Amino acid sequence: MKAAELKRRYLAFFEKKRHAVIASASLIPEHDPTVLFTTAGMHPLVPFLMGQPHPEGRRLADVQKCIRTGDIDEVGDATHLTFFEMLGNWSLGDYFKKEAISFSFEFLTEELGIPLERLGITVFAGDDDAPRDEESAGIWKSLGIPASRISYRPKKDNWWGPAGATGPCGPDTEMFYWSSGDSAPEAFDPDDARWVEIWNDVFMQYNKKEDATYEPLSQKNVDTGMGVERTAAMLQGKKSIYDTEALARIAAKVRELATLSGEESVKSERVITDHLRAAVFILGDEHRVTPSNLDQGYVLRRFIRRAIRHGHCLGIEGNFTAAVAKDIIDAYREEWPEVGMNEAFILDELQREEARFLQTLQNGLRRFEEMATKDLSGDEAFLLFQSYGFPIEMVVELAKEKGISVDRRGFDHAFALHQERSRVGAEKRFKGGLADASDESRKLHTATHLLNQALRNVLKDDSIRQMGSNITPERLRFDFNFARKLEKAELQAVEDEVNANIARDLPVRVKEMTVEEAKGAGAQGVFEHKYGERVFVYFIGDYSVEICGGPHVSSTQELGRLKIRKEESISAGVRRIKAVLVER
Ligand code: SER
Repeated sequence: MKAAELKRRYLAFFEKKRHAVIASASLIPEHDPTVLFTTAGMHPLVPFLMGQPHPEGRRLADVQKCIRTGDIDEVGDATHLTFFEMLGNWSLGDYFKKEAISFSFEFLTEELGIPLERLGITVFAGDDDAPRDEESAGIWKSLGIPASRISYRPKKDNWWGPAGATGPCGPDTEMFYWSSGDSAPEAFDPDDARWVEIWNDVFMQYNKKEDATYEPLSQKNVDTGMGVERTAAMLQGKKSIYDTEALARIAAKVRELATLSGEESVKSERVITDHLRAAVFILGDEHRVTPSNLDQGYVLRRFIRRAIRHGHCLGIEGNFTAAVAKDIIDAYREEWPEVGMNEAFILDELQREEARFLQTLQNGLRRFEEMATKDLSGDEAFLLFQSYGFPIEMVVELAKEKGISVDRRGFDHAFALHQERSRVGAEKRFKGGLADASDESRKLHTATHLLNQALRNVLKDDSIRQMGSNITPERLRFDFNFARKLEKAELQAVEDEVNANIARDLPVRVKEMTVEEAKGAGAQGVFEHKYGERVFVYFIGDYSVEICGGPHVSSTQELGRLKIRKEESISAGVRRIKAVLVER
């Protein structure tokens, strides 16, 4: 079964089980300062897992774009990816273990036709925080899974979340598939690599707090996740995820450009395939992240530069990232229209980054050769990053080829200092919790809507829209499309207009409607929604209308006074404003 068919069947199956199919959220988490990328389907749903009603109801399913950088060093083998697509279904305080497990069982055995003999199951063994999950084990047994195929595992294996430092989490039950051609052994051993994990049902009934204790959530949720590429590879009897359709097509393009081959060629092909695919999806996201030395931009830069270096290992001549990206875009433009819509931007940014890197690469390599007579200290690795833009993974790989080591912890330390220094006024990114709903964030959230509208009015440009938003309890950060720097007087006028509306004491009201109705009402922010989907629309008096998940204050007078602290460019055509609320 092809990956596209797997996705189609999954969504159709859960639609039949009365789930609303929702659109993938952005790869860049909104309002979550603790994580750089969306790492799982549940991530954008955190407010709803915490109890806020979702406009589409209590049963949801989707395909979510995800990025996980934790395994970046493993990319190059047969099973690791940084960007991947995740299938998921959710119950927001609706069904719980019995139905969730029954749905999973039915989908695997009937829809995908996996024989019972090839399935193994893990469940949570229990500890001081939560009891042994006999309930899930009992449900699996009632469906026909023999006891010898159920393994009880500790928290390290069978507990999921929170996605950031705090938030919803709970015990899970994982489904494994016997991937080898011979028949599966009677006893199930999840540590045997031939048993491949394909699906995870998480029973989210706890909230992890900042003091690392767990409190029961007001509603019991189900969160499931299935990796598309991995499951498709398994269903196709392929040992490597890079042999599934889209990835195989991209890898073939890389092979076509290569002029050298050696022992490490397959690894290089896979690194380029994975990293450029991740880069295309980050650049293709509505937020318009571009390569830089900070945050998401830095991860993007590492993906692109490491891919370029592996291109050189394959003897690829001339600039090549845009040529490979073109194939990636073609492979995905139907399923993910945003990569097609942003094609010119993606190709342009890749070309620019490649040219920038090539300027410093030769000098950097020379400098590296001088240093490489002994193991590299963290400061030396940092210098290669700082002065020549060498991503740490690349320094580590170069060192390995020379048979020397790199003080990775020393590098991380130097890098962390650099990040903190670059972040004027310490935004406390590691402090705030997931989907923070403090009073301060709530106020800043409402202020963001006012700012969005004021920019359109003052700059007399109706095409201005939100390209990104990030809120901590201390400040708001708002990205929008605009071609030039704002004049001082314009910034003042924006601030004045926001404050005038705060002073009008406008009521904030929310209505639930379809995306079409929202568009009809002149609402902002329709990008990632699909036809027919139900959404919440926030009205601030007669001044602002915006699709949004909340939370907001109930009247603008609660906000105090807005102060714009900074206005800057973050990439071509995208500006960023940082602002705070102060007492009136
Ligand atoms: N959040 C869980 C995971 O990522 C299930 O979706 O595995």
